[in-house]
Amino acid sequence: MDYVVEMLNIRKEFPGIVANDDITLRLKRGEIHALLGENGAGKSTLMSILFGMYQPDRGTIQVNGKEVRISNPNVANHLGIGMVHQHFKLVENFTVTENIIMGTETRRWGLFLDVKQAGRKIAELSTRYGLNVDPYAKIEDISVGMQQRVEILKMLYRKADVLILDEPTGVLTPQEIHELGKIMKNLIAEGKSIILITHKLKEIKEFADRCTVIRRGKTIGTVDVAATSEAAMAEMMVGRQVSFKVQKAPSRPGETVLKVEGLTVRSARKSQALKDFSLEVRAGEIVGVAGVEGNGQSDLVEAVTGLRKAESGRILLNGKEITSESVRQRIEDGIGHIPEDRQRRGLVLDYSLAENMVLEVYHKAPFSRRGILQSQPIREYAEGIIGSYDVRSGEGAASSARSLSGGNQQKAIIGREIERNPVLLVAVQPTRGLDVGSIEYIHKRLVEHRDKGNAVLLVSLELEEVLNLSDRIAVVNNGELVGLVDAAETNENEIGLMMAGVRKEAQP
Ligand SMILES: Nc1ncnc2c1ncn2[C@@H]1O[C@H](COP(=O)(O)OP(=O)(O)OP(=O)(O)O)[C@@H](O)[C@H]1O
Ligand SMILES: [Mg+2]
Repeated sequence: MDYVVEMLNIRKEFPGIVANDDITLRLKRGEIHALLGENGAGKSTLMSILFGMYQPDRGTIQVNGKEVRISNPNVANHLGIGMVHQHFKLVENFTVTENIIMGTETRRWGLFLDVKQAGRKIAELSTRYGLNVDPYAKIEDISVGMQQRVEILKMLYRKADVLILDEPTGVLTPQEIHELGKIMKNLIAEGKSIILITHKLKEIKEFADRCTVIRRGKTIGTVDVAATSEAAMAEMMVGRQVSFKVQKAPSRPGETVLKVEGLTVRSARKSQALKDFSLEVRAGEIVGVAGVEGNGQSDLVEAVTGLRKAESGRILLNGKEITSESVRQRIEDGIGHIPEDRQRRGLVLDYSLAENMVLEVYHKAPFSRRGILQSQPIREYAEGIIGSYDVRSGEGAASSARSLSGGNQQKAIIGREIERNPVLLVAVQPTRGLDVGSIEYIHKRLVEHRDKGNAVLLVSLELEEVLNLSDRIAVVNNGELVGLVDAAETNENEIGLMMAGVRKEAQP
C-alpha cells in the first residue's frame, strides 16, 4: 500500500493529560484524509507532532516508508510536510509575498531581487492551484479566507506534498468553504495528500476519502467516508447518539430588553457600515441575525457591546439609553458577549483558566475583598463553569488558557458569559469550532438562558444554526435590515433570498 505518512502508536502526554494515547493514522498518497474527534481529543497535538512542533513520548513516524525523526518544523518542511494552523498568524503589515518568503529567503542575490522573483513564483502557484491571491496585497487588507489561502501558498512555495489543514473552514464563509473544496481537489489532482481537521460532518462527506476518528486521545478507527453516514461518524466520535435538532418550546416573549433605533455605524473594515438600523429583542426570545459576512453584523454587535461608537441613533437596554456607555458599564448593566474572535477578545491567553473566568467580575465580592483577589472563591467559581460546560484541560482551573484546545477555549467563554446570567446575551458564532456533541449542549444552554426570561441576540454565518435556534430572524444586507421573520414560518430558501437583498414581499 502506498502510504506517504504513517504515524504509528503515537503517545504524547502533557501535565495532567494524555493528549495522544497510542494513536495510529496512515495517510495514502493522493487522498483527503479527515481527522475527526471531540474538542480536546488530541487532533491538533497529533498534527503538531507530525509538523515537528512536539516530540512524541512514544511511537514512530514513517514518511514514504522510511522512519524519520521530525525534530522541528524545518525538518518537516524538508520532508515535504506543511501545516496551516488552527489559529494562523501572518504579519499584518507585510505583503503576501513577504509573509511567504519569511524564513526561506536566500540573500544571495540581495533581498530585493528575491522578493520580485518570489512574487512571480507565488503568482504562478496561485494561478496553477486556483488560489486567487494577490502576491503584493498587504495581509491587513485581505479577507480571512484569502489569508488562509496565503497559508496554503506558503506550504506550496516550500514544496510541501503533505498538507495539514487544522480546522480551515472554521473561519470561512459558506462561499469560501466551497472555494476551498475546489482548491483541495486541485491539490489532490497534482498528487498532493491532505489531512483535514473539521468538526463539520457535511464537509467530511463532501471532501474526504477516508476519516480517522479519535476520542480522548485514543484511535477509534478509520472509515471509508462514502460508506459511512454522518450519524455513524458522530456516534464513533462522541460515543453516543447526537441530536442535530434543537429541542425547544415556543418562545414566550416579554418586555423589550434591547431596542436599537435608527442606528448608523461607520465601519472600520471594508465591510458595509450599518445604516439606519432598528431592531428589538424581547425578554424570553432569541433573535438571530442572518446575513452574508460583512453586511453590518459586526458593526451591530460592536455598537451594542460598546466596542464601536454609534454615529447616530440610539441603543436602549431595558428602557435605559446606553448609546454612549463604556463597555464596562454595559457589562454592569447586564450585557454578555460571546465574541467572534475568541483569541483576541475572549481570553487572555497567558492567564489561567480561573483568572479568565472572572475577567469581568474579579473586582467584586466574593472574588475581591478590600482590593485583594481571593483565590479560593475564584477557583471554585471557575471549577463550576469547567464542570458544567465540560471544559477539558490538563490542569483544570490552573491550566493556562493558551494550553486549551480551540474548542475548549470556546466552551470556557460561553460558560463564563452565560454564568453571569446577562439580561442580554450577544452571541456571535457561538458554536464555531465546537464538536457536534458540544454544539448540541451549547444550543440547549442558550435556549435555557432564553427560557429564564433573558434576551439573546444571535449572530451566525451558519444559516442552519440561525434557523434552528432563533425565534425570530432579522436578515441584513448591505448594512440594512431587509426583513424580520418568524423562524417557524420561514425556510432556508426565503432567508437565502433575503440575504441577497430580495425583500419578502418581492419574492415569488
Ligand atoms: N501545550 C500544551 N500544554 C498543556 N496541555 C496541552 C497543550 N496542548 C494541548 N494540551 C491539552 O491536550 C489536549 C488535546 O488538545 P488538542 O489541542 O490536541 O485538541 P483538539 O483535538 O485539537 O481539540 P479542538 O477540536 O478543540 O481543537 C487538551 O486537553 C489540551 O488541553
Ligand atoms: Mg485543535
